[in-house]
Amino acid sequence: MQTVYGIKAHGGQLINLEDFSETTAQAAAQLPSLTINAWNLSDLELIGIGGFSPLTGFMTSDDYHAVVKNMHLMSGVLWSIPITLPVTKEQAAAIELNSTIALKDQSGVIYGTMVVEDKFVPDKQLEAQNVYGTTDLAHPGVKRLFENGDVYLGGAIKLLKKPSHGEFSDYYMEPIETRKLFHDLGWKTIVGFQTRNPIHRAHEYIQKLALENVDGLFLNPLVGETKADDIPADVRMESYKTILKYYYPKDRVRLVIYPAAMRYAGPKEAILHAIVRKNYGCTDFIVGRDHAGVGDYYGTYEAQELITAVQSELGMHFFKFDNAFYCKKCGSMATQKTCPHPASDHISLSGTKVRKMLAEGTVPPKEVSRPEVAQVLIDGLKRKREAEVHA
Ligand code: ADX
Repeated sequence: MQTVYGIKAHGGQLINLEDFSETTAQAAAQLPSLTINAWNLSDLELIGIGGFSPLTGFMTSDDYHAVVKNMHLMSGVLWSIPITLPVTKEQAAAIELNSTIALKDQSGVIYGTMVVEDKFVPDKQLEAQNVYGTTDLAHPGVKRLFENGDVYLGGAIKLLKKPSHGEFSDYYMEPIETRKLFHDLGWKTIVGFQTRNPIHRAHEYIQKLALENVDGLFLNPLVGETKADDIPADVRMESYKTILKYYYPKDRVRLVIYPAAMRYAGPKEAILHAIVRKNYGCTDFIVGRDHAGVGDYYGTYEAQELITAVQSELGMHFFKFDNAFYCKKCGSMATQKTCPHPASDHISLSGTKVRKMLAEGTVPPKEVSRPEVAQVLIDGLKRKREAEVHA
């Protein structure tokens, strides 16, 4: 048994369901198998490595309904987004209840096994409304939910093999490892930062404000599935590495990937993001404006409000930040809380606008993006476009 350092995992115990033995792999190869997509594979991995502690499998109907209706597992532990394994009706019919199946990716490689304890038809309307706050199919998370199969399989999993993280492998760690890392670094207070965007000055500002108050920053960009118009993870990773190189003290930051898919569930996803970072060993977490939001589905500070309501159940400290911008009069980054000047003195660009500028090869103002970072993003996106042309 490895020592589990640091803050108590969500639900009390850091889960580990890895079994990399040759015997188990051989036995799994004899089982009936199910092909799962990249999203489900990342969920399988996160359950297996304990990122989703206390979950030990894909949700059965009782936990699913408890989460959708009451934002808690049957055990009473706070949980905000169902972690499910959707399949088609035909696939479900071919799988026997209480049987063990192997879970493989599109190329046939087995990554896990699952005891099929439950097969159930979810209430997708209710799930969409309660988790995403909308049933609008224009919402990327809701769209995905309705595209998924109409039956969910629930049951305990084992992780037999970890998915490869390719070029990000050097930035991959399991919760048990990050906890040891923080321990070895002597960090007692660690602030987690979730992001799915290239790093900009507002990110840097709020990270550094938090870093003034804690021992270390755990920069934990999501690299799983995102919507098509988000900046690809490999290009984003370059932006994080670049800013760390030029603008952050080396001994106070660690960059580690978060291999999950993005749900865009705003407030509910902010809770999931906090839970996972607690499992990775963070004592603190940053929630800024419109955390995990998309379009106009959530209020600017709705995620912060929900986090405040459940904070005692999370047992973490939160840094909640107002919308940050650069103020020409102040000559610095600021928020409404610290700047008396009108909006006409502020420089801030929407993510959409910045993405458009980068795609066109235009460097955004240095008050929005560090020039070194902007250049890396422009070059990265250009490379992507060229690769697409040649594909
Ligand atoms: S998210 O979908 O992962 O939340 P993003 O990577 O843009 O998107 O945000 C990462 C974190 O920074 C979130 O907590 C978000 O609320 C916060 N954030 C992003 N931009 C700003 C800003 N201008 N002011 C304050 N907080 C911000």
